[in-house]
Amino acid sequence: ERGEYAHYMLKEIHEQAQAVTDTLEGRIAGGRILTQIFGVDAAQLLAKTDAVHIIACGTSYHAGLVARYWIEQLAGVPCTAEIASEYRYRDPVVKEGTLFLTISQSGETADTLAALKLAKQRPYLAQMAICNVPESSIVRESSLVLMTRAGPEIGVASTKAFTTQLVALALFALELARSKGLDAERYADGVRQLEHLPALIGETLKLDGEIQALAAHFVDKQHALFLGRGTHWPVAMEGALKLKEISYIHAEAYAAGELKHGPLALVDENMPVIAVAPNDRLIDKLKSNLEEVRARGGELYAFVDETVAHGLDAAHVVILPAAGEIAAPVVSTLPLQLLSYHVAVLRGTDVDQPRNLAKSVTVE
Ligand code: F6R
Repeated sequence: ERGEYAHYMLKEIHEQAQAVTDTLEGRIAGGRILTQIFGVDAAQLLAKTDAVHIIACGTSYHAGLVARYWIEQLAGVPCTAEIASEYRYRDPVVKEGTLFLTISQSGETADTLAALKLAKQRPYLAQMAICNVPESSIVRESSLVLMTRAGPEIGVASTKAFTTQLVALALFALELARSKGLDAERYADGVRQLEHLPALIGETLKLDGEIQALAAHFVDKQHALFLGRGTHWPVAMEGALKLKEISYIHAEAYAAGELKHGPLALVDENMPVIAVAPNDRLIDKLKSNLEEVRARGGELYAFVDETVAHGLDAAHVVILPAAGEIAAPVVSTLPLQLLSYHVAVLRGTDVDQPRNLAKSVTVE
């Protein structure tokens, strides 16, 4: 079933354009997201939504963190994203008008399911799930469901499930934002970015050979630091998680603005620093953070679009296609997945079945 691919993970990375196409199928018409995809009473529900609590674990939590930026930036609705294992034990306070939203590939993650059950005892507007398995426990327990259509994901390290979660969350953020009066042009632009995303993914995955060539630099490394700002901070977190789980190289992600508050002390020529950055309002700040890394002899790997690459002093620059605020986190995720994959292959680890991990975490 892997066909021409050496591992399921590589196959699943390359399935992402199709998985995103499938996840968008029947959900946009005439430049508009169809409100009823969130349920029959969705229009009233979105109108009443004054806050969103996103709960998930691992990679799905990282998708939630990206969505948090979108929901606050586009809809102006307060949003938190939190890991389920903390939420379920901390007596969360729920204000009226809050929507509860879980994100889960498997729909069976024990902590996420327990958090959902707890949330049903609280005065939430509704419990919505973004999930990849239709007959799963989380889908059954939720009042509203938006399915991702990534198809079966065999590799333990999540790839296409994550990018389709981002797409589902973008549909939700844009539609919530429209109901809160988002500027029509910005809405239309967001929808266009989603429609163009499969093509952009295809284009980005053509960088595979270039990224594979970089992997050799990481084989003997013990540590790596991932940096991003805004929506690209959680993208950096996801990049670090991928590298850890399949190559067993210790990796950490920092919001680039936090560098000088501690982690800069780690930076020397043995510490590869990976930066992901779109051309957004944070770019000049990120560039100055990267200067600090360079000044300490850190080996810098930048995954950026052409406009950002211009004048950037990095040892290795991979040019990504330019993308807007919705598409960029998806595009920037792809080279990090490929990098982890190729590093793991060179290190000879079991890419699809990393040690100590299970695909579906049904115990806490
Ligand atoms: C990492 C990974 C895990 C899962 C986490 C939640 O690559 O796959 O971190 O994201 O165990 O799983 P789901 O999404 O099934 O709830």
